[in-house]
Amino acid sequence: MPEQKVYSIALIPADGIGKEVVEATVKVLDALTQKITSFRLEYTTYDWGSDRYRKIGSFMPPDGTSQLKKHDACLFGSVGAPDIPDHVSLWGLLLAIRGPMQLYANVRPVKVFKGTKSYIRDVSEGDIDWLLVRENSEGEYSGHGGRSHVGQPWEVATEVAIFTRVGVERIIRFAFEAARSRERKQLTVVTKSNSLRNGLVLWDEVANEVSHDFPDVKWDKMLVDAMTVRMVSRPRSLDVVVGTNLHMDILSDLAAVLSGSIGVAPSSNLDPTRKNPSLFEPVHGSAFDITGKGVANPVATIWSACEMLKWIGEEDASAVLFQALEEVTAKGQCTVDLGGSLNTLEVVDALRSELLQ
Ligand code: NAD
Ligand code: IPM
Ligand code: MN
Repeated sequence: MPEQKVYSIALIPADGIGKEVVEATVKVLDALTQKITSFRLEYTTYDWGSDRYRKIGSFMPPDGTSQLKKHDACLFGSVGAPDIPDHVSLWGLLLAIRGPMQLYANVRPVKVFKGTKSYIRDVSEGDIDWLLVRENSEGEYSGHGGRSHVGQPWEVATEVAIFTRVGVERIIRFAFEAARSRERKQLTVVTKSNSLRNGLVLWDEVANEVSHDFPDVKWDKMLVDAMTVRMVSRPRSLDVVVGTNLHMDILSDLAAVLSGSIGVAPSSNLDPTRKNPSLFEPVHGSAFDITGKGVANPVATIWSACEMLKWIGEEDASAVLFQALEEVTAKGQCTVDLGGSLNTLEVVDALRSELLQ
């Protein structure tokens, strides 16, 4: 018998519904690894997040990223709590991991599941099949800036977006590669170089340069404002999309809801060089309005786990899990946000039965 492979997975459930959806995902992964026994997942759970901050004043230990580097991958829930300012929590945990670990490609697939409804009229399964690629290490989220004359009427605050040629080129190249690997081989580069005349002009120039290495990829450029119109009015015209950190943050929430619900949208924070482990998480946040009610849709995190399995080399298991997600959703076994009536644990049970039948 071939030796069973073992992968070390860091779990960071953190806050709000993040805790609920990570717990749900682990239960589904347990069923998957009962069905497919050629590998095993070994978890280390980190109690990083707002509870820790309230107790000892920090979201994660100073050597947090070194601890994560011991693992093959990380599965993250969500960070953010109503009683802590969001910029403190986000920069205390998630953004303190993404940038320093150089997880520079944030990949967010979008699709309409069979049996569910898009918010766009006449759009159903297969009509939205996008891969959103977000620059994840710099741009508007570089953290450059400051405040002076605090409290004075002439108080000033600056937020400086940083675009490096290296940072821009690596993400645009990643997006061209992703487009090349897909059937339609199409890429849309989102920009705003009409008003942002420095950073986004560099962004456009680099896109143009990199495109010469990909003559087989058909590409175009869209201003971010017009892009929102195209996503709604011509969703079938899009395949892979690449944009800056802020632009794709906003467009990915829009994409998620257009496809049916923010509760299904997954994301992968990748270090494509594979020097560091990558981190997988739902696109959504802590969802204070439904925390503790047991109704959060776990699909986004389970789909993120599918992406994690694919990334660590378990493509077959990833496909089996994704198929189970599709089957269960098609049968209407889903949470309220997707038009169903199940709670989180009932979706988990449905998935476990689908996998273990
Ligand atoms: P949110 O994504 O948490 O919630 C937006 C809306 O979507 C809410 O009505 C919520 O109930 C609904 N929703 C989200 N996930 C759902 C799910 N799985 N199932 C069903 N409904 C779901 O966005 P927000 O309200 O702007 O943010 C809340 C907190 O989360 C803030 O502190 C924010 O900074 C943080 N946040 C964290 C992350 C992250 O850690 N990756 C991402 C986004 C927001
Ligand atoms: C996301 C989130 C984060 C982001 C926040 C919470 C920092 O909204 O992953 O989309 O903007 O990157
Ligand atoms: Mn977001």
